[in-house]
Amino acid sequence: MGFRIGVADVRLTYHLRPMYTRISTGPSRSALTAIPIFSDAPALPARHARAPGAAEAMRTFKGEVGETVTLGHMMMVGAGRRADLTLATVRTLGARLVRALDRVGATAVRLESAASLAQGRDRRFEAGQAFGEAIAIANWRMDAFDGTATKREPRRPRLSVDADDREFADGMARGLSIGASVNEARRIAATPPNVCTPDWVAAQCRALARAYGMRCSVIPYAKAKALGMGGLTAVGRGSAHKPCLVLLEHRPRSISRPARGRHLVLVGKTITYDTGGYSLKVNNGMKGMKYDKCGGAAVIGAMHAIASLRLPLHVTALLPAAENMVSDDSYRPDDIITMHNGVTVEVTNTDAEGRLVLADALSWACRELEPTAIVDMATLTGGVVTALGKFSAGYFCVDDGLRERVEEAARATGEKVWQLPLWPEHREYMRAQHADIINSNPSREAHPIQGAAFLAYFVDAGVPWAHVDIAGVSSSETPSDLCVPGPTGWGVRLLTSIAERMA
Ligand code: BES
Ligand code: MN
Ligand code: ZN
Repeated sequence: MGFRIGVADVRLTYHLRPMYTRISTGPSRSALTAIPIFSDAPALPARHARAPGAAEAMRTFKGEVGETVTLGHMMMVGAGRRADLTLATVRTLGARLVRALDRVGATAVRLESAASLAQGRDRRFEAGQAFGEAIAIANWRMDAFDGTATKREPRRPRLSVDADDREFADGMARGLSIGASVNEARRIAATPPNVCTPDWVAAQCRALARAYGMRCSVIPYAKAKALGMGGLTAVGRGSAHKPCLVLLEHRPRSISRPARGRHLVLVGKTITYDTGGYSLKVNNGMKGMKYDKCGGAAVIGAMHAIASLRLPLHVTALLPAAENMVSDDSYRPDDIITMHNGVTVEVTNTDAEGRLVLADALSWACRELEPTAIVDMATLTGGVVTALGKFSAGYFCVDDGLRERVEEAARATGEKVWQLPLWPEHREYMRAQHADIINSNPSREAHPIQGAAFLAYFVDAGVPWAHVDIAGVSSSETPSDLCVPGPTGWGVRLLTSIAERMA
């Protein structure tokens, strides 16, 4: 679609198109019928083959994944080769379908032959869930900051989705809900740093807690200083927007039998802006650093999901929130700071700030929360972007049980992780001359591992812990199957799935 400004025809790119305000499940009499069609036999099911125009519409249709063709009140959606069907196919298909529905102005859709998208009878729920997640994620765009210069068609008020298979439809409802949590993370991530300050993050968490029956409390700057959180306070003190540690606790009345005595702690790096500090980011390397809070945003999104799904498990989220700025009160390279657990750190680079704020949160969690597992998520290193790009997150975990859960969750959600090593020699590599450890080795060797090795000094031995470096996957400037350019909400589904596996 296009509209005119002066003489030029301005074509809106597809990602600027408004889509649906609300997506819900349920039947509707006016529903358009969507039919998955495999490329092995790219033909309409017999019951539809004689519809007027069918032969014409199907002439060029190949059934490739996500390809769509509309015929009256029907929309055919390509599903690729039947033998190649995976959950990834189902996600692509869901994402393409919702865009196509928006294009034709549909307000309701019913998926026929939904069970054909599952790899077997007992997999219909998970196929439905993947489908629902994709629909919700593909539907999202950020328009909260549209001003008077943006002329768009209004969003379509609602889309209702249904499927002809009960299990699939139930999974779809769960997927739509989890997708909404992913989008909540993206909304926070996309909020600009002049609005999204540490206090703003705290306010968002308070509102979330109120809406979903969680407990929220905030350790403000002064209290953090008093508690000896030398990392969080050093990183955040140069900003007019002072740092804080936000706690969000989901403690449901009913705890499942396997979850009794378990306490999962999620920690998210929440740097609302990373200028690098005095080790300033140069050559516009700062641009996009509003996304340095994506670890925290993913944790908030996961808490949104965990609470709205009422997972029967005790989960606490910690968000060390700070803005890494330059001022006459900022911390500097060569400072030596004492962290919450008494470890002293010689600051070699103020741009390695994420590990400093995470360290205090990890140490505080170990001392105060009796965690039985900790997972932290952080946009920690450029090195992990170089190594793994946007294909997967890098992760570290030396506990077999937790590693198994993380990898299962990654397989189930499609949020891929790749393990990197964390050995005693990596920890030794972080030793300092005039303090216990340095925050970054001046040699850039093994960069993502340095971050993990640093953090390892702040987790008590015996507490299963995983560190997930999402610097590459948390945002993208190019569109993907599921996401428009911008924040991806990566990690919400992974963390939620990890929690599900413990409940
Ligand atoms: N937030 C950055 C890491 C980052 C880089 C995230 C690119 C997303 C995209 C982190 O705080 C950082 O600055 N890391 C430095 C550390 C180094 C200077 C010691 C890095 O990885 O280059
Ligand atoms: Mn940095
Ligand atoms: Zn950072």
